[in-house]
Amino acid sequence: MSVTVLTALSHAWEGRMVEIVDRLPGIAVGRRCVDLADLLAAAAAGHGDVALVSADLRGLDRDALAHLGAHGVAVVGASPDGDEEQERRLRQLGVQRHVHLATPGEDLVESLTVHAAAGVAVASGPQQTWPGQDPPTAPVALVTDSTPPPVAPAEAVRGRVIAVWGPTGAPGRSTVAVNLASELAAAGAPTVLIDLDTYGAAVAQLLSVLDEAPGLASAARASELGTLDLMGLARLAVEVSPRFRVLTGIPTPNRWPEIRPAAVEQIIDLSRSLGAFVVLDLGFAIEDDEELSYDTAAPRRNAATLSGLAEADDLLLVGSADPVGLQRMVRAVQGVGQVASPTPRPVVNRLRASSVGADPRRRVEESLARFAGVEGITFLPEDRAATDAALLAGMTLAECDPDSELRRAIAQLAGTFSGVVAPARRASGRVLRRRRP
Ligand SMILES: Nc1ncnc2c1ncn2[C@@H]1O[C@H](COP(=O)(O)OP(=O)(O)OP(=O)(O)O)[C@@H](O)[C@H]1O
Ligand SMILES: [Mg+2]
Repeated sequence: MSVTVLTALSHAWEGRMVEIVDRLPGIAVGRRCVDLADLLAAAAAGHGDVALVSADLRGLDRDALAHLGAHGVAVVGASPDGDEEQERRLRQLGVQRHVHLATPGEDLVESLTVHAAAGVAVASGPQQTWPGQDPPTAPVALVTDSTPPPVAPAEAVRGRVIAVWGPTGAPGRSTVAVNLASELAAAGAPTVLIDLDTYGAAVAQLLSVLDEAPGLASAARASELGTLDLMGLARLAVEVSPRFRVLTGIPTPNRWPEIRPAAVEQIIDLSRSLGAFVVLDLGFAIEDDEELSYDTAAPRRNAATLSGLAEADDLLLVGSADPVGLQRMVRAVQGVGQVASPTPRPVVNRLRASSVGADPRRRVEESLARFAGVEGITFLPEDRAATDAALLAGMTLAECDPDSELRRAIAQLAGTFSGVVAPARRASGRVLRRRRP
């Protein structure tokens, strides 16, 4: 097979490397790219099978590597003299294969052809598991502080990702995500809650986590630079109460371009090693900008949500129990079916007769079955007193009003994932002292 190589190398030794590569049997240099943008464009245009890149290529990060991979271009690292520091940096980004000017011809051929044949050569990150490989600070076994028995098999290795998503109109995605995660943790399962809503991050405020908590933005930055590992993520995902970790969202929506899909994927992947459950609070919008989707290097506004949906094992589709909310929910079922995501499980929140009429359950069930073809709805009652008290205190429902009807309903929902429903008692044992609102 003939392999076409794209080079994007340091000017000081690029000429020498190109000469060597061009002389190799069955290998040709397709384009000598002057910078990363040039390389990405050449890859997108299908001009090469393998990209030979040096670590000092400006702007080279995990996202760029993911774009190359998406176009079927494998990546091989190159340095002039087997420079360990450069190799290390590329390895951190996930580039597994390296060559240098003095690499013997046959090894060069092998590196370039084997990689090209294998397609994408960028690793998505270290595949740590728990409890086989201890995360640094997270509890490894499913701890039971008192009554709840263990909820997951001891040999559980990779956390289950539950995406909480729903249409515009504040149907209660964050309320469900925060309390679902807290109930899973209370039932004995280490749980990581990630605020991926780049339109209106709210988890930090809902749980009154300190403003300074660096959260998602820091994790994304570290991921892009190739320095994020399980230990680093555990430091950023603060433990707000036993077994309950939170990665807070971006402080202001205008920082959305910092949250790239490759970083989201790695953060979720690592979180699976940190918790038995990973709960994602997602933004409402899932449209992909058609024009931008041709420009694969451009940041996409809804990439964080789309990546979260694609990575999830389960999807809770939260809608609001009123005529407008239900109509949006019908469209949302259709819309989410067009993007990579698990089969949605409908959750109708704020159920009350005053907004849909007498016998609200039956009415909602009938209309969603008829217009969206969905069944098996989970209903959460309208409970303004409980949610207001929790908002005011910056606490979960379990901490603030454990006997409330809403808290019980979310605990039941959590039980369908974990197999255990935490008892209705005031949750205690705050690990993190939190900011008062
Ligand atoms: N079951 C409920 N009963 C009463 N109020 C509720 C209920 N669920 C959520 N709320 C309230 O509705 C409002 C919106 O909830 P929440 O912030 O969870 O929605 P969201 O879908 O995450 O919205 P956003 O679009 O801002 O992300 C909040 O004031 C919350 O307390
Ligand atoms: Mg929200």
